[in-house]
Amino acid sequence: MRRVALLTSGGDAPGMNAAIRSIVRSGIARGWEMYGVRNGYAGLISGSIALLGARDVGGIIQRGGTMLGSARCREFETEEGRRAALKQLGRRGIGALVVIGGNGSQTGAHALSLMGFPVVGVASTIDNDLSGTDVTIGVTTAIDVALESIDRLKVTAASHQRAFLVEVMGRKCGYLALMAGLAGGADSIVIPEQEVDPETVAEDLRGAYASGKAHAIVVVAEGAGNNAERMVEFFQQNHERLGFDLRVTKLGHIQRGGAPGAYDRLLGTLFGAAAIERLAEGVNGVLVGMVKGEVATTPLAEVVACRKPLDLKMLELARVLAK
Ligand code: F6P
Repeated sequence: MRRVALLTSGGDAPGMNAAIRSIVRSGIARGWEMYGVRNGYAGLISGSIALLGARDVGGIIQRGGTMLGSARCREFETEEGRRAALKQLGRRGIGALVVIGGNGSQTGAHALSLMGFPVVGVASTIDNDLSGTDVTIGVTTAIDVALESIDRLKVTAASHQRAFLVEVMGRKCGYLALMAGLAGGADSIVIPEQEVDPETVAEDLRGAYASGKAHAIVVVAEGAGNNAERMVEFFQQNHERLGFDLRVTKLGHIQRGGAPGAYDRLLGTLFGAAAIERLAEGVNGVLVGMVKGEVATTPLAEVVACRKPLDLKMLELARVLAK
């Protein structure tokens, strides 16, 4: 009887539960015993590991968050922490691990696989900043959450002739901001990959009013050098000269908490099943993701070594369409 454990790690993402369900049931279908680890790598180190049956993962596919809990674990970054985790797995006769998470989580998965333990990663983060996959579980729902807010802000902005700044998450990556800005019809988008100065943003917003719009929206990525705090400071200092008010909405963790949409449920389901297939074939040390519309695997060594590029043509398109 093969024993396989799974965990979710780092920031939770809508669709993680669909991946958990898919991994557990795909494993059970092969006659394997499936073990859930509580709270990511922290639970692996402390031995918070329990057998999961098919019914234990029922009724979760539509829920946001992760039924296993998640954590950011500094201890696992040390060799000592990883050895403690391996001991817990060995004690239970568990021979493989599936790690559902983003960059930090897959770095941990890679470290464990370098120590000779079979690990398969499943790409999941609202940031979509992970190499080896075009899209990650959670990002589509997070964009939808941002879009709902942008649409609502446009309504109130139009009533008051006010400019609004919406700050979205994404860590050092501008993907979430760029896609939300593009799909939300923003007048200006500020991302870490291409810095703009606040004066240019102010011109974009003024341009929106000048062209007859009743609202002006700028979407700013939290990781941009000129993030919400810097922009607000600039607009406050130059309020008289600029001639309009700027109100700020930071979406923050609201973007992570949504119920997963269809696409994130499907990604979780497909990636989870593929992770079990790879383990059954004896393939490990890889990340399961989506490459050019196909579920594909990429060595974890490559995934953690590369920074995912952002398609800046989209930023140019957003500029053209904002006119
Ligand atoms: O990686 C997902 C993410 O939500 C980032 O967008 C954000 O910068 C970070 O996690 C926030 O982390 P925490 O939930 O630990 O505050």
